[in-house]
Amino acid sequence: MTSEPRASTPEMRLKRLHERLGGIAYGGDYNPEQWPREVWEEDVRLMKEAGVNLVTLAVFSWSRLETADGIYDFGWLDQIMGLLHENGVGVDLATPDAVPPAWLVAQHPDILPVLADGTTFGFGSRQHFDVSHPAYRAKSLAMAEKMGERYAGHPALCMWHVNNEYGPVSYGPHADRAFREWLQQKYSSLDDLNTAWSTDVWGQVYSDWAQVNAPAQPRTWSNPTRRLDYHRFTSDSMLAHYKAERDILRRHTPDLPIVTNFMRFYKNNDYWAWAAEEDAAALDIYPDPREEDAHVAAALNFDLMRSLRKGQPWLVMEQATAAVSQWSVNVSKLPGKMRLGSYQAIAQGADSILFFQWRQAKGGTERFHSGMVNHAGPNTRVFREVCELGRELKELGGITGTRSAAKVAVVFDWDCWWALELGNSPRSDLNYTQEVLRLYRPFFDANIPVDFVNTASDLSQYSLVVLPASYLLSDDAVQRFENYVAGGGRLVASYLSGIVDPDNTIRLGGYPGALRNVLGAWSEEMHPLAGEGEEVKISTADGGTASANYWTEHLHTEKADVLASYASGRLAGSPAVTRNTFGKGTAVYLSARVDGTFLEDLLAAERAAAGIRPELDAPLGVQVRRRTGNGRSYLLVLNHNDAPARVDVKAGGADRLTGNAVRGTVELAAHGVLVIEEPTESNPAETAR
Ligand code: GLA
Repeated sequence: MTSEPRASTPEMRLKRLHERLGGIAYGGDYNPEQWPREVWEEDVRLMKEAGVNLVTLAVFSWSRLETADGIYDFGWLDQIMGLLHENGVGVDLATPDAVPPAWLVAQHPDILPVLADGTTFGFGSRQHFDVSHPAYRAKSLAMAEKMGERYAGHPALCMWHVNNEYGPVSYGPHADRAFREWLQQKYSSLDDLNTAWSTDVWGQVYSDWAQVNAPAQPRTWSNPTRRLDYHRFTSDSMLAHYKAERDILRRHTPDLPIVTNFMRFYKNNDYWAWAAEEDAAALDIYPDPREEDAHVAAALNFDLMRSLRKGQPWLVMEQATAAVSQWSVNVSKLPGKMRLGSYQAIAQGADSILFFQWRQAKGGTERFHSGMVNHAGPNTRVFREVCELGRELKELGGITGTRSAAKVAVVFDWDCWWALELGNSPRSDLNYTQEVLRLYRPFFDANIPVDFVNTASDLSQYSLVVLPASYLLSDDAVQRFENYVAGGGRLVASYLSGIVDPDNTIRLGGYPGALRNVLGAWSEEMHPLAGEGEEVKISTADGGTASANYWTEHLHTEKADVLASYASGRLAGSPAVTRNTFGKGTAVYLSARVDGTFLEDLLAAERAAAGIRPELDAPLGVQVRRRTGNGRSYLLVLNHNDAPARVDVKAGGADRLTGNAVRGTVELAAHGVLVIEEPTESNPAETAR
């Protein structure tokens, strides 16, 4: 049964999903095919106890749904979907093409992806496909068609989950062909390609399209623009496959959300391009409990997810209740940390809390990855925490659909990421996400909400825009940044910004070529600092001292003022940090990796000058975020510290987790959370409880 097509937007589809689920989505991946029928009965009973309202089915089930070529068996899926529906649990149904079955691989061994060095992956894990393989694509789409046809209108079906963590790259013959086709679309002639790729360097000129192929392992360093284009191609080709599946599912179920799951700091796919094709951004997040500051990197990823679709609520598609099984030592989360991480995601805009997975597997690769129900069964700390969180989230339905606003934008752009890390540059250990994190962290610590943007985004709503190592900028992007500053915006750019154009060709005439005009400063030479821990001194214009490590540059000012200069080393006496007035705005340039205190002070001064204030003044490690909309306002206060913290919540409101009124200074337990519903004009009584 196919529902009637009617106009529906991603926002509408998501809103309907949450209305149907009665608020926040709660649950996780469920793999009933791994368990006998009697366990299914226990599963649904425990799901009800835990407040689960949504499970993701069939992510890895292709070999059980199509047991041989064209022989489909949906019987077991029909049964479990029926059982889930009878018990009030909705289904996020996955298309299972992350795992082409053994029979398909036996029929077409060249489905298996080929590594750059020519090694072919073997069968026996997952994501073992070359997305450009015609049979893989055709069979995946046939499965999506079957599933769409069969389950459209099924009362349990709430949303679709396409594939799983798209990402594997192949350098095999099918990828060669598809890459050539992609290049022929991009470049109007082979001459254009030769120019863009600078093939006159090292005599790589192509004289026939047939000579052009994927950048397999070269004898030594290979052409950086060819590799940059290969990154663009692989992201685009996987996205094309996603879109083909999505379009099939959309035809059958026009009103249901369709997503695929993204990964934390995932380089292979340009999630800006992907998110534009999804109904919501959906993230798999596995912070390592061994890392004291794991919540900061998580925060960056959460803000990125919220930003990818311009503030629209997003989904935590997977997280762990306790331990994972992917690191050298898999430490379990401390009691309360799973809850804290869940509320952190909600504070930063998530409307769903889902786990991998419902029941911990007893066999297979991930048998030690925790579940909502672990090997020991439900009489455990973890299941009690799962039930407690489920109970709490039921009361928070009003938060779904609310949004948060930021005045600071940080640029996060996949072209910059790919181009920066191609090697054969002034240093081989450049790490884009660490550069972004370094400039993001001072805002996180100060409770200043941040949105991410890419180099093509509209900047008009922001008072401060930060470019961390934004290495590749198009002329359009440069124009946009100049217009933004000229119109009164404040810009802060760090070293390694604006170095190349979209062909990965250096912008000549002094670094950072693209931004020289707006920065009013230019560098004649890059001076990375060689030694581990090597530092140079910096003196500030107001008589203070600071230090820099890792990166310095021989900087000259044209129009900019000098905020700090190098005070030791070979650049002693030259400017290190500058601020230029450009039109009605200003642009700061950091030519060095300055120490944390200097950076915090500089960014604090910039944001203060832009009139940006924290949500609340809170001690370090206490995160504060506000979500508003639908006539409601929520202030979420999260203590990431291992010790209690005191916070002045000012006028406060009703803590939705306890029902108590909170106002003024309150003590928050270690890892404690407040979800304060603040009084609003349309909801004035909320503090009275
Ligand atoms: C990923 C995958 C899941 C599972 C988890 C845990 O996010 O999507 O299938 O493997 O990791 O490792």
